[in-house]
Amino acid sequence: MPVSSTTRLSLTRRPRRLRRTEAIRSLVRETRLTPDCFIYPLFVVPGRGIRREIGSMPGVFHLSVDEAVKEAAAAKADGVPAVILFGLPDTKDLVGSAAADPDAPVQSAVRALKREVRDLLVITDVCMCEYTSHGHCGIVEGDEIVNDVTVEHLAQAALSHAVAGADIVAPSDMMDGRVAAIRKTLDERGFDQAAIMSYAAKYCSGFYGPFREAADSTPQFGDRRSHQMDPGNVEEALREVEIDLAEGADIVMVKPALPYLDVLAKVKERFGQPTAAYHVSGEYSMLKAAAERGWIDEPRVMMETLIGIKRAGADMIITYYARDAARLL
Ligand code: PBG
Repeated sequence: MPVSSTTRLSLTRRPRRLRRTEAIRSLVRETRLTPDCFIYPLFVVPGRGIRREIGSMPGVFHLSVDEAVKEAAAAKADGVPAVILFGLPDTKDLVGSAAADPDAPVQSAVRALKREVRDLLVITDVCMCEYTSHGHCGIVEGDEIVNDVTVEHLAQAALSHAVAGADIVAPSDMMDGRVAAIRKTLDERGFDQAAIMSYAAKYCSGFYGPFREAADSTPQFGDRRSHQMDPGNVEEALREVEIDLAEGADIVMVKPALPYLDVLAKVKERFGQPTAAYHVSGEYSMLKAAAERGWIDEPRVMMETLIGIKRAGADMIITYYARDAARLL
């Protein structure tokens, strides 16, 4: 057929009209990314002056408290309002004693950040896996992670974070009843203003691989299938969220993000509560690796990923890209 510019179809609807210019596209854009929805993870280690890149996570560092303060201040200056802290303690033991140690890296970092970075929102991850010698998320008897004893340890860890000044504690362990126990412990000690962000629907995921190097938390035997969720389940995710909300969670989280966007969308739709998504280490490292090979345009794919997570229903996104994305915005 000859090319002809005089052909005119009589169409009532021409959706392309609203894609003609950036001004029009922007006018009809349904989802917008803003830096105020980003939460930036930091890995805090003992010592001073330490800033050591994590091999499997280019651009992410192990930071001593002083360096964590610098990094958080820079993130805040970029427009990122919040950090979430993970800690690598000096010593690990069977019951993860360092998890509730007031002088461990996380608690020290919370105090320093609240003192030195104005208006920074400080969130702490609450779990045992970085603190136990076996790398499990709880207290182990035989080959079982014992739920109720673990919950008591988690509540003490969360309390130590609140005492240090954490605004929000974020239990990531997936034990039953931990939100209620943490709420009760915090309230009894006068921390009724400390909020709980629960990792409510946390899947047993291969995408946590690089994090386990970052947090030195690879289980020495077995895996996390007895507490983290089966990737095939979504009804169960809704039950988990319902339980955590009933126990007093202020914010619920779905994790990882991209492979579970359907879960995120359903959680937001069903409950209409403040909802977080965690764009996890493996999701980040995959993009980094592909970008290093020149296979993708990293800034573009980063933004597309983050807007996809927001469009699916996330009010806030935990992402290692927080600073990069905030700077681009
Ligand atoms: C601790 C915890 C994990 C992550 C956050 N908190 C790892 C795990 O459950 O094995 C993963 C975060 C990431 O991969 O970026 N339980």
